Amino acid sequence: MIKRILTWIQATSDQFHIWNYFGAVKPIIELSDKFPDAEIFLFTAIMHTYTRLHDAEALRKNVINSLKLLLACWADPKRFLIYSPADVPWHVQLSRILSCLTIMWTMERMHSYKDALANWKSWEIWVWTFCYPILMAADILIYDTDIVPVWKDQKQHLEYARDMAIKFNNQYWETFKIPDAYINEEVAIIQWIDGRKMSKSYNNYIWLLDDEKQVLKRVKQIPTNTQTVEESKNPDECNVYKILKLFLNEEENIAIRNRYTAWWLSYKEVKDYLYEKIIAFLKPIQEKYNQISDQEILDLLERNAKIVNEIANKKVEEVYKKIGFKL
Ligand code: ADP
Ligand code: TRP
Repeated sequence: MIKRILTWIQATSDQFHIWNYFGAVKPIIELSDKFPDAEIFLFTAIMHTYTRLHDAEALRKNVINSLKLLLACWADPKRFLIYSPADVPWHVQLSRILSCLTIMWTMERMHSYKDALANWKSWEIWVWTFCYPILMAADILIYDTDIVPVWKDQKQHLEYARDMAIKFNNQYWETFKIPDAYINEEVAIIQWIDGRKMSKSYNNYIWLLDDEKQVLKRVKQIPTNTQTVEESKNPDECNVYKILKLFLNEEENIAIRNRYTAWWLSYKEVKDYLYEKIIAFLKPIQEKYNQISDQEILDLLERNAKIVNEIANKKVEEVYKKIGFKL
C-alpha cells in the first residue's frame, strides 16, 4: 500500500503559467484523488532554487506567492502537508552524510550537472549545483517516502536516491525505504504560439494571474494555417485547437471538432472561443488568490514545520546512531 507521497513545487518564479498548471499543478492536485489513503507531503524547493537565485526578496516572494497560487488552484491544505525544507535543518544534515557516501563520478554523470556544463564552464558552477541530487535524495529518504511523482527529467535523480537507500541499508542495516517513481504519462507537452513548448525561457506563456488584455494579446499571436472560412479544416493541425482542447469537456470537444471538419469556421471564431475559455478558467483562480493573505501561508508553513521536523529528526537520529555520530 502506498502510504506516503512526496511532491514539490519550484520556487524559481512567483507565478505559474498555463503549462505549469496543466503539467505540474493539476497532476499534484489530482494525486489526492488517485491516492485517497496516502499522506501527501508537498514542499517548496527553496533550497534547490538557491543554487540559481541569490536574491532574498525574490526568493521570499516566490515561495509565498507560488504557495498562494497553489491553494488558489484548489489544492486542499488539509490533504497536503505543505512545508519548506528551509524550516527543517535535518535535510542538510542528511545530505552531508549522503555526500560522504557518494563519489564525484556519480554526480558527474547526473544530468543536472551536465545541463549546467552545457551553459557554463565548470569553474562557474556552484558546488551545490553539482551536488543537487544529494540534497534531493535527502529530501526524499528522510520521510520514508513510498513514491515520488517525477518527470522523465528527474528520473535519474530518483534512481540515485534509490541507490543511496539500498547502499546505506546494505552497509548499516534497514534504515531507508526505497522510493518508487510515479511517472504521469498522460501529461502532454503544450505547444504555444510559435509551436515551441510554453516556457518562461521562450516568452510565450500566459500567467495564471494575467489580465484580459494580456491573454488577448497572446491568443492573437497564435499563428494559424491559411485555409479560408469556407474550407473544412483538420483540428489536430490547428495550433489554436491544440490549446483549446485543454479547456473543453467531452461534449464541447466533439462539437468544435465537428465545426472544424464542416465549413464556415473562421480562425477568428476559434480564437474568440479560446479567449473566453481561458478567461473563464483564470477568473476563479485569480479571485481565490486575492483572498489569501501572506500571513496565511506563513502560518501554514510554521504549523507544518513542527510536524515534519519531528519525522525528519527521528530519521536523522537513527542514521547518526548507525554511523557512530551519536555516542
Ligand atoms: P519553464 O520551462 O517555464 O522555465 P520550469 O523549468 O519551471 O518551466 O519547468 C518545470 C517542470 O515542468 C520541468 O521539470 C520541465 O521539464 C516541465 N515543463 C515545463 N514546461 C513544459 C512543457 N511545456 N511541456 C512539458 N514539460 C514542461
Ligand atoms: N529536482 C526537482 C526539480 O528540479 C526539485 C526537487 C528537490 C525534488 N528535491 C526533490 C523533487 C525531492 C522530488 C523529490 O524540480
